[in-house]
Amino acid sequence: MTNHLLGPDDLSSAEIEKLLNLAKEIIANPMNYADAAKGKILATLFYEPSTRTRLSFETAMLRLGGQVIGFADANSTSAKKGEGIQDTIRTVAAYSDIIAIRHPVEGAPYLAAKYSDVPIINAGDGGHHHPSQTLTDLLTIWEMKGQLDNLNIALARDLKFGRTVHSLVEALLKHKGNKFFFVSPEGLEIPDYIKEKIPADAIVETHNLEDVLPEVDVLYMTRIQKERFANPDEYAMFADACILDNEKLKGAKKDMIILHPLPIDKEILFEVDDDPRAAYFKQVKYGMYARMALIYTLLNKPFVKGYEREGVVAEGITAKCQNPKCVTNNANVQSAKWLFTDEARTVCRCEYCDWILKNE
Ligand code: NCD
Repeated sequence: MTNHLLGPDDLSSAEIEKLLNLAKEIIANPMNYADAAKGKILATLFYEPSTRTRLSFETAMLRLGGQVIGFADANSTSAKKGEGIQDTIRTVAAYSDIIAIRHPVEGAPYLAAKYSDVPIINAGDGGHHHPSQTLTDLLTIWEMKGQLDNLNIALARDLKFGRTVHSLVEALLKHKGNKFFFVSPEGLEIPDYIKEKIPADAIVETHNLEDVLPEVDVLYMTRIQKERFANPDEYAMFADACILDNEKLKGAKKDMIILHPLPIDKEILFEVDDDPRAAYFKQVKYGMYARMALIYTLLNKPFVKGYEREGVVAEGITAKCQNPKCVTNNANVQSAKWLFTDEARTVCRCEYCDWILKNE
């Protein structure tokens, strides 16, 4: 495992299991970890709204005996005066031992990791990744289904902008035999950079939840990410897609579990909360333990400064990313490395945001 957790690439299946085993050990014996981070400080830098992610990181650190600093509103920070991510990170790294950052710009935590003297955790970067939520989701699945492989997993609604979906799918791909049922309205499908990693016989795509529910072991519902649309009116086209109610659940397996990273907007009717398959509030609690395990692990790893994505670099290209939401177009970054995605070396992705790049 690298010194940072920025995306699913930073974790192998063995490392995931190690982290989840540690989370289970903390659940069983919390007092053994009550002083594990004594004298250490976590900084939470939240440039976007959050309830669970920020508070669970902070609670996790406090329960490990550490302390927390940070901000929940970037408007009250020097970002408002024009300070760039690089300088903010160099400053906060001088005050703290570990940093969790949430930022609307895709790839921002990857840039932060290059400049930081302490571990960086990506707590959500735009519509890209959210790997600590993935540890939460995996711990919940493991505890409730007893396995992370050979599962039928449906992911529903906003698969285009849903960063929790992107990180979870990539992590589940590291475990064998999983089959993905992507349920989304037309226009919010899973991005190509993720889809191309999935074997063709492990994907089903549909617009209707009812079509897939009878086959599914884990149903992962999501909110339409209205804040990511260029035009807010566009949201209205999708607002009522794939709503889960008790009627639809009649067709689902009795031992299916329903997950949601939360917050719920309107996609799960209130009546579903009383169904024994609804596991999203248990998932909240697992999130705190997953983050305790993550903070503990990163704090105890020898630190080497710098961060490079793994992959073969396309030499001779010095261009910014073509994704307007990428950090290369929203911070003082000259260019992105282009990394090949395939062995034939025909397709490249951005080192920061994974956008598939075209040589124009
Ligand atoms: C998610 C997020 O911020 O990506 N929430 C979370 O972190 N638990 C999902 C969402 O906002 O819809």
